[in-house]
Amino acid sequence: MSERPFESLSSRIDARTAVVGVVGLGYVGLPLAVELARSGYRTIGFDTKQSVVDGVEAGRSHVQDVSSDIVGAFVGEGLLSATEDLKRLSECDVICICVPTPLNKTKDPDLSYVVASAHAIAHGLRPGQLVILESTTYPGTTREVLLPVLEEESGLRVGEDFFVCFSPERVDPGNPVWHTRNTPKVLGGITPACRDAGVSIYETVFDTMVPVESAEAAELVKVYENTFRMINIALANELAQACDKLKVDVWDVIEAAATKPFGFMKFTPGPGLGGHCIPLDPHYLSWKMRTLAFKTRMIELASEINAEMPAFVVKKVADALNEDAKAVKGSKVLVLGIAYKKDIDDLRESPALGIVQLLEEKGADVEYHDPHCPVIADDGHTPLCNLPMSSVALTDEVIAGADVVLIVTDHSVVDYARVARLAGVVVDTRGVMRGVHANGRVEGMSGPVGLFAPPALRREA
Ligand SMILES: NC(=O)c1ccc[n+]([C@@H]2O[C@H](COP(=O)([O-])OP(=O)(O)OC[C@H]3O[C@@H](n4cnc5c(N)ncnc54)[C@H](O)[C@@H]3O)[C@@H](O)[C@H]2O)c1
Repeated sequence: MSERPFESLSSRIDARTAVVGVVGLGYVGLPLAVELARSGYRTIGFDTKQSVVDGVEAGRSHVQDVSSDIVGAFVGEGLLSATEDLKRLSECDVICICVPTPLNKTKDPDLSYVVASAHAIAHGLRPGQLVILESTTYPGTTREVLLPVLEEESGLRVGEDFFVCFSPERVDPGNPVWHTRNTPKVLGGITPACRDAGVSIYETVFDTMVPVESAEAAELVKVYENTFRMINIALANELAQACDKLKVDVWDVIEAAATKPFGFMKFTPGPGLGGHCIPLDPHYLSWKMRTLAFKTRMIELASEINAEMPAFVVKKVADALNEDAKAVKGSKVLVLGIAYKKDIDDLRESPALGIVQLLEEKGADVEYHDPHCPVIADDGHTPLCNLPMSSVALTDEVIAGADVVLIVTDHSVVDYARVARLAGVVVDTRGVMRGVHANGRVEGMSGPVGLFAPPALRREA
């Protein structure tokens, strides 16, 4: 009698002869594919973008956290390859789905990429295959959207013939400490056998496995984590606005509160939410809950507060110009940092784009400097008027020539002491100017930024 599907898959995993497919080679898929290859599995990356496939095949990484050296080395050893040919999914014993899960304009989930991947996999689904969905989504997606396509098109049965899990990717781009391998990996299966199959491969790739009761629990873990972050950022943003009215330095308050060794976690205010996760993921949960006649009030309120931040920042710029009897219209505004967070090159949902748009609408003459994002291209989604827009060099003349220097993203490579020395007026949304000696004025999120700062933050100009 031939081996049963579960045992057959397990023995291929144990022997590292299992072939793994990663569908979608973006910020999540490429690092995962590299870790699978590092663990000894022949890994095939699937992507619908020819440029991505060609790049990986040529040993090039297009993801900042993954070096081309590593990609090139695994490609050279035959452990990593890439293809656009989705028919080759049937070659894989394990398939990890890492495709985008955006929201549409009305903030409803767009699962079209997941559904397209499901059809491609179902086409060649065979006994003994394991499918793991990694894309962030609402609880119920794996069982209600992915599974029916796989079962109906193949005629195979989950938990017996093939296995399906959800395991949320928790990658934090640019994080120097926590990366794909050492971030604990949550995983839930459609059935206990599915969960066991998922754990059996991922425990050879990730340092710590966190199995949970069901695929739904795993889906909810991810949206809960990001909702937690989104709500706490909203609280910090609300505090900044309250501090502005109270004339109290918000950073002083937050840093002092963060010295409490228990029961407090530090979150900081900023120009608004960005990235592919925090602004979007909570809406997956609220959408799902609306279908169950339940309103997620905390999410709605927090989104509203965070969404107001770009306008709050533009008001800070207008107020700063007003002090000098200048209008926004015709003023030169130099935006420092356009990526959605420090030291990365990701522009998705970046609040800087909304801020630049609002300033342009008011007639400001906007330039930006961001060494991580040399160009903002017109991709059909970016709402700015003057595209493409290129990063200007941070020369003394550019800094001194701006009516306002607006710090939106606090990239480490920028010399803020130099900015403070040369700029006439700075609006600092990130608190990097605290304790820096400035020749001009520095406005923060809650009023003027002074020289008082804890010793660790003091910088000489
Ligand atoms: N970026 C992050 O920091 C992060 C963190 C955790 C979770 N996530 C989640 O992971 C998922 C992927 O995000 P990402 O940032 O890697 O996206 P991405 O846009 O960087 O990459 C997705 C890739 O999938 C490809 N693709 C789209 N449809 C395809 C298909 N049908 N077949 C094969 N390839 C296809 C695209 O060409 C692209 O290269 C999303 O659900 C996201 O919410 C992202």
